[in-house]
Amino acid sequence: MGALGYIDGRIVDLKELVVAMEDRGYQFGDGVYEYAKVYNGKCFSLKPHIDRLYRSLRELKIPAVFTYPEMEEIHERLIAESGIENGGIYLQITRGWAPRAHAFPDTVVPCLTMTIRPSAFDASQWETGVGVLAVPDERWLRCDIKSLNLLGNVLGKQKAKEAHCYEAIMIRDNMVTEGTSSNFVIVKDEVLWTYPVCNLILKGVTRTRVLEEIVPDLGLSVLEKAFTVEFAKGADEAFLTGTTTEIMPVVSISGKPVADGKVGPITRKIQKGYKDLIAKECGLA
Ligand SMILES: Cc1ncc(COP(=O)(O)O)c(C=O)c1O
Repeated sequence: MGALGYIDGRIVDLKELVVAMEDRGYQFGDGVYEYAKVYNGKCFSLKPHIDRLYRSLRELKIPAVFTYPEMEEIHERLIAESGIENGGIYLQITRGWAPRAHAFPDTVVPCLTMTIRPSAFDASQWETGVGVLAVPDERWLRCDIKSLNLLGNVLGKQKAKEAHCYEAIMIRDNMVTEGTSSNFVIVKDEVLWTYPVCNLILKGVTRTRVLEEIVPDLGLSVLEKAFTVEFAKGADEAFLTGTTTEIMPVVSISGKPVADGKVGPITRKIQKGYKDLIAKECGLA
Protein backbone atom coordinates (compact mmCIF):
# COMPACT_ATOMS: atom_id res chain seq x y z
CA MET A 1 0.00 0.00 0.00
CA GLY A 2 1.24 3.49 -0.73
CA ALA A 3 0.62 6.56 -2.87
CA LEU A 4 -2.65 6.45 -4.80
CA GLY A 5 -4.65 8.70 -7.11
CA TYR A 6 -8.32 9.48 -7.67
CA ILE A 7 -9.88 10.41 -10.99
CA ASP A 8 -13.41 10.10 -12.40
CA GLY A 9 -14.70 8.32 -9.30
CA ARG A 10 -11.95 5.68 -9.43
CA ILE A 11 -8.99 5.12 -7.13
CA VAL A 12 -5.98 4.27 -9.26
CA ASP A 13 -2.26 3.65 -9.15
CA LEU A 14 -0.48 7.00 -9.58
CA LYS A 15 1.09 5.79 -12.84
CA GLU A 16 -2.43 5.51 -14.29
CA LEU A 17 -3.44 9.04 -13.30
CA VAL A 18 -3.93 10.61 -16.71
CA VAL A 19 -5.75 13.83 -17.54
CA ALA A 20 -7.04 15.14 -20.86
CA MET A 21 -4.43 17.01 -22.90
CA GLU A 22 -6.82 19.96 -23.32
CA ASP A 23 -7.88 20.11 -19.68
CA ARG A 24 -8.02 23.83 -18.82
CA GLY A 25 -6.03 23.27 -15.65
CA TYR A 26 -3.17 21.94 -17.75
CA GLN A 27 -3.38 24.65 -20.44
CA PHE A 28 -4.39 27.77 -18.46
CA GLY A 29 -3.93 26.91 -14.78
CA ASP A 30 -7.73 27.32 -14.76
CA GLY A 31 -8.51 25.53 -11.51
CA VAL A 32 -8.06 25.44 -7.77
CA TYR A 33 -6.49 23.10 -5.23
CA GLU A 34 -6.30 22.17 -1.57
CA TYR A 35 -3.98 20.09 0.54
CA ALA A 36 -4.88 18.46 3.84
CA LYS A 37 -2.64 16.48 6.20
CA VAL A 38 -3.45 13.01 7.48
CA TYR A 39 -2.43 12.12 11.04
CA ASN A 40 -3.18 8.75 12.60
CA GLY A 41 -5.31 7.84 9.58
CA LYS A 42 -7.55 10.92 9.95
CA CYS A 43 -7.74 14.18 8.01
CA PHE A 44 -6.87 17.25 10.06
CA SER A 45 -8.84 20.50 9.52
CA LEU A 46 -10.72 19.01 6.57
CA LYS A 47 -13.82 21.20 6.97
CA PRO A 48 -11.95 24.56 6.73
CA HIS A 49 -9.95 23.26 3.77
CA ILE A 50 -13.09 22.25 1.89
CA ASP A 51 -14.83 25.51 2.86
CA ARG A 52 -11.89 27.40 1.35
CA LEU A 53 -12.06 25.16 -1.74
CA TYR A 54 -15.71 26.17 -2.24
CA ARG A 55 -14.78 29.84 -1.86
CA SER A 56 -11.99 29.52 -4.45
CA LEU A 57 -14.41 27.77 -6.85
CA ARG A 58 -17.04 30.49 -6.36
CA GLU A 59 -14.49 33.23 -7.07
CA LEU A 60 -13.56 31.53 -10.37
CA LYS A 61 -17.18 30.61 -11.24
CA ILE A 62 -16.38 26.89 -11.39
CA PRO A 63 -19.38 24.78 -10.30
CA ALA A 64 -18.66 22.90 -7.05
CA VAL A 65 -20.19 19.57 -8.26
CA PHE A 66 -19.19 17.63 -5.09
CA THR A 67 -20.91 18.12 -1.71
CA TYR A 68 -18.98 18.24 1.56
CA PRO A 69 -20.03 14.68 2.59
CA GLU A 70 -18.90 13.42 -0.83
CA MET A 71 -15.52 15.16 -0.50
CA GLU A 72 -15.13 13.75 3.01
CA GLU A 73 -16.00 10.26 1.78
CA ILE A 74 -13.39 10.38 -1.02
CA HIS A 75 -10.71 11.51 1.45
CA GLU A 76 -11.63 8.61 3.75
CA ARG A 77 -11.57 6.12 0.86
CA LEU A 78 -8.10 7.27 -0.20
CA ILE A 79 -6.81 6.88 3.36
CA ALA A 80 -8.39 3.43 3.78
CA GLU A 81 -7.27 2.05 0.40
CA SER A 82 -3.72 3.44 0.61
CA GLY A 83 -3.24 2.34 4.23
CA ILE A 84 -1.41 5.66 4.79
CA GLU A 85 -1.60 6.71 8.45
CA ASN A 86 0.53 9.84 8.17
CA GLY A 87 0.63 11.71 4.90
CA GLY A 88 -1.08 14.33 2.81
CA ILE A 89 -3.98 14.49 0.37
CA TYR A 90 -3.69 16.89 -2.57
CA LEU A 91 -6.81 17.69 -4.56
CA GLN A 92 -7.45 19.91 -7.54
CA ILE A 93 -10.56 20.85 -9.45
CA THR A 94 -10.11 22.31 -12.90
CA ARG A 95 -12.82 23.92 -15.01
CA GLY A 96 -12.62 20.79 -17.14
CA TRP A 97 -11.85 19.74 -20.68
CA ALA A 98 -12.73 21.80 -23.78
CA PRO A 99 -11.02 22.79 -27.05
CA ARG A 100 -8.50 25.52 -26.19
CA ALA A 101 -9.99 29.03 -26.05
CA HIS A 102 -9.46 31.58 -23.30
CA ALA A 103 -13.09 32.42 -22.36
CA PHE A 104 -15.13 29.89 -20.36
CA PRO A 105 -16.58 27.12 -22.56
CA ASP A 106 -20.41 27.06 -22.78
CA THR A 107 -20.60 23.51 -21.49
CA VAL A 108 -17.83 21.94 -19.50
CA VAL A 109 -17.64 19.46 -16.62
CA PRO A 110 -15.18 20.25 -13.79
CA CYS A 111 -12.49 17.63 -13.25
CA LEU A 112 -11.53 16.50 -9.73
CA THR A 113 -8.26 14.65 -9.29
CA MET A 114 -6.56 13.74 -6.02
CA THR A 115 -3.41 12.07 -4.75
CA ILE A 116 -2.43 10.66 -1.37
CA ARG A 117 1.20 10.23 -0.37
CA PRO A 118 2.97 9.33 2.87
CA SER A 119 4.68 12.18 4.75
CA ALA A 120 8.27 12.86 3.76
CA PHE A 121 9.19 15.84 5.90
CA ASP A 122 12.43 16.52 7.75
CA ALA A 123 10.98 16.86 11.28
CA SER A 124 14.31 18.06 12.72
CA GLN A 125 13.58 21.49 11.21
CA TRP A 126 10.76 22.04 13.73
CA GLU A 127 13.39 21.73 16.47
CA THR A 128 16.27 23.72 14.96
CA GLY A 129 14.27 26.33 13.06
CA VAL A 130 14.99 27.42 9.49
CA GLY A 131 16.24 30.34 7.44
CA VAL A 132 14.05 32.33 5.05
CA LEU A 133 15.03 34.53 2.12
CA ALA A 134 13.29 37.82 1.26
CA VAL A 135 12.32 37.96 -2.44
CA PRO A 136 10.06 40.25 -4.50
CA ASP A 137 6.40 39.19 -4.54
CA GLU A 138 5.81 38.77 -8.28
CA ARG A 139 2.37 37.13 -8.09
CA TRP A 140 -0.98 38.31 -9.45
CA LEU A 141 -3.53 40.30 -7.44
CA ARG A 142 -5.82 37.41 -6.37
CA CYS A 143 -3.53 35.55 -4.00
CA ASP A 144 -6.60 34.92 -1.79
CA ILE A 145 -7.76 32.29 -4.31
CA LYS A 146 -5.93 28.97 -3.97
CA SER A 147 -5.55 28.68 -7.72
CA LEU A 148 -3.27 26.48 -9.79
CA ASN A 149 -1.38 29.58 -10.98
CA LEU A 150 1.70 29.22 -8.79
CA LEU A 151 4.59 30.43 -10.94
CA GLY A 152 5.43 33.37 -8.65
CA ASN A 153 5.45 30.95 -5.71
CA VAL A 154 7.51 28.37 -7.62
CA LEU A 155 10.16 30.92 -8.64
CA GLY A 156 10.32 32.34 -5.10
CA LYS A 157 10.73 28.90 -3.51
CA GLN A 158 13.47 28.02 -6.02
CA LYS A 159 15.41 31.18 -5.06
CA ALA A 160 15.09 30.14 -1.41
CA LYS A 161 16.31 26.64 -2.21
CA GLU A 162 19.32 27.97 -4.10
CA ALA A 163 20.14 30.14 -1.06
CA HIS A 164 19.84 27.03 1.20
CA CYS A 165 16.74 28.49 2.86
CA TYR A 166 13.56 26.60 3.73
CA GLU A 167 11.21 29.27 2.43
CA ALA A 168 11.07 32.64 0.67
CA ILE A 169 9.10 35.47 2.24
CA MET A 170 7.69 37.76 -0.41
CA ILE A 171 7.89 41.55 -0.47
CA ARG A 172 5.22 43.69 -2.15
CA ASP A 173 5.23 47.51 -1.84
CA ASN A 174 8.05 47.17 0.67
CA MET A 175 5.95 44.95 2.98
CA VAL A 176 6.29 41.22 3.75
CA THR A 177 3.13 39.50 2.52
CA GLU A 178 3.66 35.77 3.18
CA GLY A 179 5.75 32.74 2.32
CA THR A 180 5.47 30.95 -1.03
CA SER A 181 3.52 28.12 0.63
CA SER A 182 3.04 29.45 4.16
CA ASN A 183 1.99 32.51 6.15
CA PHE A 184 4.61 34.53 8.03
CA VAL A 185 4.29 35.77 11.60
CA ILE A 186 6.71 37.75 13.78
CA VAL A 187 6.67 38.34 17.53
CA LYS A 188 7.69 41.73 18.93
CA ASP A 189 7.15 42.66 22.59
CA GLU A 190 4.65 39.78 23.01
CA VAL A 191 2.56 41.01 20.06
CA LEU A 192 2.14 38.76 17.01
CA TRP A 193 2.31 40.65 13.72
CA THR A 194 1.09 39.18 10.45
CA TYR A 195 -0.12 40.56 7.11
CA PRO A 196 -3.88 41.31 7.12
CA VAL A 197 -6.30 39.06 5.25
CA CYS A 198 -6.97 40.60 1.82
CA ASN A 199 -6.48 39.79 -1.87
CA LEU A 200 -2.67 39.79 -1.47
CA ILE A 201 -2.32 36.69 0.73
CA LEU A 202 -3.88 33.27 1.12
CA LYS A 203 -5.91 33.05 4.32
CA GLY A 204 -4.12 29.98 5.68
CA VAL A 205 -6.12 27.40 7.59
CA THR A 206 -3.15 27.00 9.95
CA ARG A 207 -2.84 30.79 10.40
CA THR A 208 -6.55 31.02 11.28
CA ARG A 209 -6.41 28.15 13.77
CA VAL A 210 -3.30 29.59 15.43
CA LEU A 211 -4.80 33.08 15.76
CA GLU A 212 -8.26 31.92 16.84
CA GLU A 213 -7.62 28.78 18.87
CA ILE A 214 -4.07 28.93 20.26
CA VAL A 215 -2.99 32.54 20.72
CA PRO A 216 -5.95 33.66 22.91
CA ASP A 217 -5.06 31.00 25.53
CA LEU A 218 -1.47 32.29 25.66
CA GLY A 219 -2.56 35.81 26.61
CA LEU A 220 -0.84 37.33 23.57
CA SER A 221 -2.27 39.97 21.27
CA VAL A 222 -2.33 39.95 17.49
CA LEU A 223 -1.81 42.81 15.08
CA GLU A 224 -2.86 41.99 11.52
CA LYS A 225 -0.77 44.75 10.01
CA ALA A 226 1.84 44.94 7.26
CA PHE A 227 5.51 45.34 8.24
CA THR A 228 8.81 45.72 6.40
CA VAL A 229 11.56 43.11 6.18
CA GLU A 230 13.80 45.45 8.22
CA PHE A 231 11.19 45.41 11.00
CA ALA A 232 11.00 41.60 10.79
CA LYS A 233 14.80 41.35 11.09
CA GLY A 234 14.50 43.20 14.42
CA ALA A 235 11.75 40.88 15.77
CA ASP A 236 12.08 38.84 18.96
CA GLU A 237 10.83 35.71 17.18
CA ALA A 238 9.43 34.68 13.81
CA PHE A 239 7.66 31.63 12.46
CA LEU A 240 5.82 30.26 9.42
CA THR A 241 2.43 28.55 9.47
CA GLY A 242 1.11 26.07 6.92
CA THR A 243 -0.45 22.66 6.51
CA THR A 244 2.86 20.96 5.66
CA THR A 245 5.07 23.50 7.42
CA GLU A 246 2.91 23.38 10.60
CA ILE A 247 4.55 25.87 13.00
CA MET A 248 8.08 26.37 11.68
CA PRO A 249 10.44 28.56 13.71
CA VAL A 250 12.38 31.09 11.60
CA VAL A 251 15.84 31.75 13.00
CA SER A 252 17.28 33.87 10.17
CA ILE A 253 16.01 36.23 7.49
CA SER A 254 18.22 36.69 4.40
CA GLY A 255 21.23 35.58 6.43
CA LYS A 256 20.57 37.83 9.46
CA PRO A 257 19.76 35.97 12.71
CA VAL A 258 16.39 36.72 14.32
CA ALA A 259 17.26 37.86 17.87
CA ASP A 260 19.89 35.35 19.16
CA GLY A 261 19.25 32.99 16.23
CA LYS A 262 17.55 30.40 18.46
CA VAL A 263 13.94 29.22 18.51
CA GLY A 264 11.94 31.53 20.79
CA PRO A 265 9.70 30.57 23.76
CA ILE A 266 6.47 31.90 22.25
CA THR A 267 7.06 29.93 19.06
CA ARG A 268 7.58 26.81 21.20
CA LYS A 269 4.28 27.39 23.00
CA ILE A 270 2.46 27.81 19.69
CA GLN A 271 4.06 24.61 18.38
CA LYS A 272 2.80 22.82 21.50
CA GLY A 273 -0.71 24.31 21.08
CA TYR A 274 -0.77 23.12 17.46
CA LYS A 275 0.35 19.60 18.41
CA ASP A 276 -2.46 19.50 20.98
CA LEU A 277 -5.02 20.51 18.33
CA ILE A 278 -3.83 17.70 16.05
CA ALA A 279 -3.85 15.19 18.92
CA LYS A 280 -7.40 16.15 19.91
CA GLU A 281 -8.82 16.11 16.40
CA CYS A 282 -7.00 13.03 15.13
CA GLY A 283 -7.34 10.91 18.26
CA LEU A 284 -3.67 10.75 19.22
CA ALA A 285 -2.78 10.03 22.83
C1 LIG B 1 0.76 31.13 -0.60
C2 LIG B 1 0.35 30.35 0.61
N1 LIG B 1 0.17 31.00 1.77
C3 LIG B 1 -0.18 30.35 2.89
C4 LIG B 1 -0.34 28.98 2.91
C5 LIG B 1 -0.71 28.28 4.17
O1 LIG B 1 -2.05 27.83 4.12
P1 LIG B 1 -2.56 26.61 4.97
O2 LIG B 1 -2.26 26.93 6.41
O3 LIG B 1 -4.02 26.57 4.71
O4 LIG B 1 -1.83 25.42 4.50
C6 LIG B 1 -0.18 28.26 1.72
C7 LIG B 1 -0.37 26.80 1.69
O5 LIG B 1 -0.20 26.15 0.72
C8 LIG B 1 0.17 28.96 0.54
O6 LIG B 1 0.35 28.32 -0.63
